[in-house]
Amino acid sequence: MRQIAWCTLTYIFMIYPPYKIKVIEKISLIPRKEREERIREAGYNLFSLQSKDIYIDLLTDSGTGAMSDNQWAGIMLGDESYAGSINFKHLEEAVKSVMGFKYVLPTHQGRGAEQVLDKILIKSGQVVPGNMHFDTTRAHIENVGGRAIDCAIEEAYQPDTENPFKGNIDISKLENLINKDPKNIAYILITVTCNNGGGQPVSLENIRHVHEIAKKNNIPLFVDAARYAENAFFIKEREVGYKNKSIPEIVKEMMSYMDGCTVSAKKDAITNIGGFIALNDKKLYNKLAPKNVLFEGFITYGGMAGRDMEALARGLFEGTDEDYLRYRIDQVRYLGEKLSNAGIPIMKPIGGHAVFINGRAFLPHVKQENFSSQTLCVECYIEGGIRGVEVGTILAGRNQKTGENIYPKLDLMRLAIPRRVYCREHLDYVCETVINVYKRREKIKGFEFDFESPTLRHFLSTFKKVK
Ligand code: F0G
Repeated sequence: MRQIAWCTLTYIFMIYPPYKIKVIEKISLIPRKEREERIREAGYNLFSLQSKDIYIDLLTDSGTGAMSDNQWAGIMLGDESYAGSINFKHLEEAVKSVMGFKYVLPTHQGRGAEQVLDKILIKSGQVVPGNMHFDTTRAHIENVGGRAIDCAIEEAYQPDTENPFKGNIDISKLENLINKDPKNIAYILITVTCNNGGGQPVSLENIRHVHEIAKKNNIPLFVDAARYAENAFFIKEREVGYKNKSIPEIVKEMMSYMDGCTVSAKKDAITNIGGFIALNDKKLYNKLAPKNVLFEGFITYGGMAGRDMEALARGLFEGTDEDYLRYRIDQVRYLGEKLSNAGIPIMKPIGGHAVFINGRAFLPHVKQENFSSQTLCVECYIEGGIRGVEVGTILAGRNQKTGENIYPKLDLMRLAIPRRVYCREHLDYVCETVINVYKRREKIKGFEFDFESPTLRHFLSTFKKVK
């Protein structure tokens, strides 16, 4: 039976920011005419814009957060020794305290951790099931000859269906896959929160269930824990039995079912760079360590400066602060609800780190082959200097065998909210901008490729307007 208490959340109380501003960074809105020129020069690819030409940058919540005074103080205590840095010790202690893992391998960011882990855990032809793999995660699995298979529940693909834990793994999909050939499963990976599914959380009930299946079949279970704290907050808010548990307790319980984790520290640990692998098995650690040295750096720095490790060690704790998390999640929800109340089709429920606008429903007359969500991103930049990102057809790429375009079920524009960076007025402005685009949506035309990059086409391609 499902142990979930769930109701649509509407806010009666305003949630106020649990911090004040000590340092500011100037931003400005260049005139509309210039925005039109800049985006044309960028080949209508928002990755090619210069950040000085952007007013509100919601491209990603990764590495874009504002560090605290405590983290900046830690930066001054960087011990830049090649080996044995004290900051690595602090990082190890923080990971043990927050997540409960014994061993830590530092990496330059999340994808570094993925590369090292996959080189050891995956044999060519093996499968890695998960809820929904992030792009770099999938690419690293495929890079060593593995197959990344998404097993999220069906509702994860339905933008309008409310479900408190849309990031959950579909247990029967997972079992069917394992039953075909248990030995062919390299490991199982749960991504919390599920970024590609809209920043949706995974319940502890689901995690426990997957853990039992993994254990029964002797398959390692890992978590992509980039957004470990936001997932824990949703569990506290939505899952029966967790209301009175603290965020650190919930994070610890999530991790207790795992053999290990890969982490991009640029998200919930609120650093500008960094990552790590953490685990309990000394034998596996001993296999991973040489690869870490080869690809990332020595085992006590892994591509990070000592100062970055100190900021990360401190950020790991700060990420679990409940007042901060409540405000953060509420901020994202505020933007989502305001857009939704204005009739903008968004993915429901609103996720942890971003609001996802359904580009296909926003611009139904623009064919998917003309990139409705990318078109929406371009129009929001022209309208108000806002940068979002397409998570749709361009990102999905082509089928490697047939060469056909992949048309994903979800074609979205993501507005990712950096941590501790913007205030409510900024979000009101974002809302106004999107609503202005919505009012003139019928006149908007789509795009086609001008240059299609054979790989990573969302980063590198350019576009031209459809006539
Ligand atoms: N896993 C998840 C769930 C992610 O969201 C990301 C990055 C990574 C792994 C890779 O980590 O960037 O440190 O190498 N997501 C960013 C984003 C890029 O915009 O969502 P990384």
